[in-house]
Parts: sequence; C-alpha cells; structure tokens
Amino acid sequence: MTNAIVLGMQWGDEGKGKIVDLICPAFDAVVRFQGGNNAGHTVKFGGRHFALHFLPSGILHPGMACVLGNGMVIHPEAFFDELHKLAESGVDAGGRLFVSARAQVILPPHLHLDAAREAARGGGKIGTTARGIGPAYETKAARSGLRTCDLGAEDVEARVAVLRGQLAAELAELGAEVPETGELATACRYWGERLAPYLADTAVLVNRWIDDGKSVLFEGAQGALLDVDHGTYPYVTSSNTVAGGVATGAGVAPTRIGGVLGVVKAYTTRVGSGPFVGELEDETGDFLRRRGNEYGTTTGRPRRCGWLDAVATRYAQLLNRADALAVTKLDVLDELDEVRVCVGYRFRGEVRRDFPAELAVLEQAQPELRTFPGWRSPTVGVLHYEDLPQQARDFLAFVEDEVGTPVGMVSTGPRREETIVRDAPEMTRLVSGRVDRVLAHRDVSA
Ligand code: GDP
Ligand code: IMO
Ligand code: MG
Repeated sequence: MTNAIVLGMQWGDEGKGKIVDLICPAFDAVVRFQGGNNAGHTVKFGGRHFALHFLPSGILHPGMACVLGNGMVIHPEAFFDELHKLAESGVDAGGRLFVSARAQVILPPHLHLDAAREAARGGGKIGTTARGIGPAYETKAARSGLRTCDLGAEDVEARVAVLRGQLAAELAELGAEVPETGELATACRYWGERLAPYLADTAVLVNRWIDDGKSVLFEGAQGALLDVDHGTYPYVTSSNTVAGGVATGAGVAPTRIGGVLGVVKAYTTRVGSGPFVGELEDETGDFLRRRGNEYGTTTGRPRRCGWLDAVATRYAQLLNRADALAVTKLDVLDELDEVRVCVGYRFRGEVRRDFPAELAVLEQAQPELRTFPGWRSPTVGVLHYEDLPQQARDFLAFVEDEVGTPVGMVSTGPRREETIVRDAPEMTRLVSGRVDRVLAHRDVSA
C-alpha cells in the first residue's frame, strides 16, 4: 500500500481539492497536516459544488475516514460551521472525522491581531486570508498557544491568561479589541466540550491504520512557494506546506510515505502580496482570470495571473520530489493563439534557472519566456491523453522535461468527471494499483 501526498507546487489554488476528491477512493483515509481555514479547496461533480476549508476533501466520499492533524490550526466555530453546512448538503461526517488533540486552536485574539496588523501594514501588507493563521502559529512556537485538548483542561483560564498577556500589548497598540480572560476561558470551555467527541491522538491512529495495511492520503494546503521556510518569505503562510511537513504535521515518519503527487496549474496564480516574476497585468492576465474563474475560494479576492513558471515549479519539485504531476486547468488555455512558459529569471543580464531567496532579486527579475503555438480547440472534458491536441501534448511534454517528472494526470475542467488519468507506472503506484477505483469514481457521476 502506498501512503501518498497530494500537494501544491505553486502558490496555492492549483486544484488540490479536485485531485484529492478524485483519487481518494484508492485510499482508506485522508489527512490534513498543516494550515487551517486559509485553505479553500473546491470540489465539483455532477451538478454539485463544495468549498472545503478545514475538512479534507475526502470527507465527501461516503465512509472515508478523515483527519485534521496536529500541524493544523483550528478555529472551532468555523470548523463547526463547515460541518453544519456539509450536513445541510447531506454529507454525514459522523464517526469518521478525527481532530488531533495536539492541533493548535485559533482564538479571537489571533483573528484580531491578523486583521489589525494587516491594516497597520498598509501598502506593505501580506494580504493574508485574515483567518488568524500567522498569529496562531506564532503562539504555538512561543509555547503560549492552546491545543484542542487544552480547551477542556482544568487550568484553561490560567493558560488563556498567559496567551492574552502575550498578545494584549500589541492588540492595544494597534487599537484592536483585547478580549477579557474570563470571556475567553468560557468560550474555550464551550468549544472544548463540543470538540471533545472528535478529539483523538491522530498520530497513533494514522500509524495504526498504516500498520493494519491501510493506505493514507495526505492532503496539502497552500503551495510550496507559500512554505514558511522555502517560499517567498515574508510573503508566505506560516506553516510547512512541502512534503516534509507531513512528518511533523501528521506524526507519520518519512519512511512510511511512499509517494508524492504534485498539483500544477497550467499557468500561475497568486493571491495576496509578494513577488511574482512574470505576472501578467495585461489583457492576457485578465483573460486567464476570467476564463479560469480565478477568484479566491476563501476570500473571493481576484487572483493575480501569469504564465506557468517553470523556475518556481522546478524548485517545488526539488523540495517535494513528486513522482508525478497532476496538471490542472489545461482547458483554460484552449482559446489562446500562443501559450508561454517562464523558463528562467533574467536578472542583471544573466538568466537564472534556480529560484532566488532574495526578495530584491525576485522583485526585479524579468521572465525569460518560451513560446508555444496554442491548440485553439476545446480540451474541456477530454478523458484520454491521446485525444488531446498535439500542441497541448507538446506543451505538457515540455513541462515534464522542465520540471523533471512525468505528467500522470491532466485536469480538463472543474468537475471530477473531467480528468485524464494516464496509464503510467508512477500513477498506478501512487494509488496502490487501484486505478480502476479512481476511474469508476470519475465516471459514476458523468
Ligand atoms: P485548491 O485550493 O488547490 O484546492 O484549488 P481551488 O479550489 O482553490 O482553485 C481551483 C479552482 O479551479 C476551483 O474553482 C476549481 O473548481 C477549478 N478547477 C480545478 N481544476 C480545473 C480544471 O481543470 N479546469 C477548470 N476550468 N477549472 C478547474
Ligand atoms: P489553498 O489551500 C492561495 C496566501 C494568502 C497570503 C498568504 C498568507 O486554497 O491553496 P495566511 O492567511 O495563510 O497567513 O496568508 O498566503 N494563502 C493562500 N493562497 N491558496 C491558499 O490555500 C492560501 N492560503 C493562504 O493569500 O498571500
Ligand atoms: Mg484554494
């Protein structure tokens, strides 16, 4: 059995939710290992449409066990809102959803601080999702945060007082609300009681499943270039989004993880601030945004658009060592006369193929573009690689060469039914030989 990771190879919104939803029937459980409700994973099939923020995309598959791992930050109220919305849509998560007792809790001061800091930064803002993610990871590292299991602890008021004490001065200075300790403690006890039925030592649970021969799928949020260590710091999120994050964020050793599927959009988008070599602030950028419906799933913000950035994706490949790529949104490029790929960053007369650490280089670099003829024919809903236009296959072959790993899946529309699963050994291995289950799942709602 292969335990595999699905993760983003760009700046998020690559289509991870869609890919996880499609391949999850080949697995016995789906586990989130980092981030919180900054994530927005869209899943569409038949006439249905779901946007998931905390819950793994596997939750939509009846009976699939789902885990929110210790590396996550969880806002209890938002978590229950999401569960409630799902229940209204007929999705029953009862008895199969497990939340790590060690996951950190996002509390009101974290949210206030996120918003107040962004407001104070003015033009220099990060453009966060305002979900309190950064402050929650800060107090985790500062050892003043509360874990889900601490909400019901006898000394919860004392813990909350420590947390409040740490954040109060900055909140007050920024003119933000400073919640009272008693009020916070009452809320913690309330959410502690409600969360209790979901809490588990999820590292023990997931490792036991693996011991029992089950296969586990780890669902990444955000993307490699938003990783707090490896991304375009400080314009990043506050967690480790790369494959290595699974080991710490789920408590599953690297030796137990057998494969990585890297999700890559056929072009690049980024939401929020930060360097973006090759950003298209022109008609082509507008076209990609319109045609690709590039508006945030979580915040509704328009996403910044550009051509596929092979420099960034190659770097993501170095960090994640994906066995195969799932290239999404190929259909968005259908009408273009020409399709481009950024193959290098031109900086002070030199073309760099590595991804620079320095913000100043990223901000000044110009994209070195390679141009391909467009295919100018619809690929929407194409199910077999051989049925793609030759120009589209040439483009994908170039991506394979540039990034250095095969394309195992091609997404040709937002719906589950609109996906090519290639008959390739890498894909077969990633899904433990259960390609038939994936294809049956794809075709059932068609
Ligand atoms: P995630 O955060 O990586 O799960 O991605 P999002 O769900 O935030 O953004 C991807 C968006 O593209 C969603 O609206 C999807 O429904 C949509 N999408 C995914 N794959 C395709 C595709 O192949 N073609 C088109 N046109 N849309 C897609
Ligand atoms: P999914 O899982 C795209 C971006 C924000 C901001 C930066 C920091 O849907 O791919 P944060 O709220 O995390 O402190 O914001 O990270 N960001 C995302 N961009 N997709 C996401 O998630 C994102 N989650 C955070 O826009 O630039
Ligand atoms: Mg998203």
